[in-house]
Amino acid sequence: MIINDFSKENSLISKYIFELRDVSIQKDSMRFRRNIERIGEIMSYEISKTLNYETVKVTTPLGEKEVYVPDNKIVLCSILRAGLPLHNGVLNYFDSVENAFISAYREHPNDDDDDFEVIVSYLASPSIEGKTLILVDPMLATGKTLENVLEALKNHGKPKQIHILSVIGAKPGIEYVEKIFPADTHLWIAAVDDSLDSRGYIIPGLGDAGDLAYGEK
Ligand code: URA
Repeated sequence: MIINDFSKENSLISKYIFELRDVSIQKDSMRFRRNIERIGEIMSYEISKTLNYETVKVTTPLGEKEVYVPDNKIVLCSILRAGLPLHNGVLNYFDSVENAFISAYREHPNDDDDDFEVIVSYLASPSIEGKTLILVDPMLATGKTLENVLEALKNHGKPKQIHILSVIGAKPGIEYVEKIFPADTHLWIAAVDDSLDSRGYIIPGLGDAGDLAYGEK
């Protein structure tokens, strides 16, 4: 896996991460969503540098010129509901991609412990065969959700290339997805934290991204 960890360099992303984590700022849900969206926009610009480009001729009112435009067919797949602000950020830049949505939730088989399974319950996707797949999951905690999503998408074809976009990832989750995704998968991640708590929440993370963006369930 090719890991692009934005916390290793100085960029505006670190300010957006600060605001997403800070308990006194993250309560402003509009700012919370917009900060995630902004991270999606910056990551999209970086992804655009890895795509294939073709030469096309453009006609202006005053003449013609050969220019380069990306020729990848892209499917943007988001995990509901926390993935939506990041999805919007990517869509702001890659404005004509195809879209896929998948819902995954945690089910606790035993009431007396924190063990959970990830259940995929809804999937709407075009074919991903031979296309560039951008998978959006803002909190890469255990990696189990991404594993289930990868499995569910198998019925829709084999992508040429996969990019995973995450805002905060936990080291154990990153190690897990490294094992199950193809070696040439890119992981674009804004911050990496060391651990998870017993419920699978990232420590210190930022809390529940879905609740902060859209309200408590
Ligand atoms: N999902 C979240 O919203 N937060 C976490 O810390 C882990 C999963």
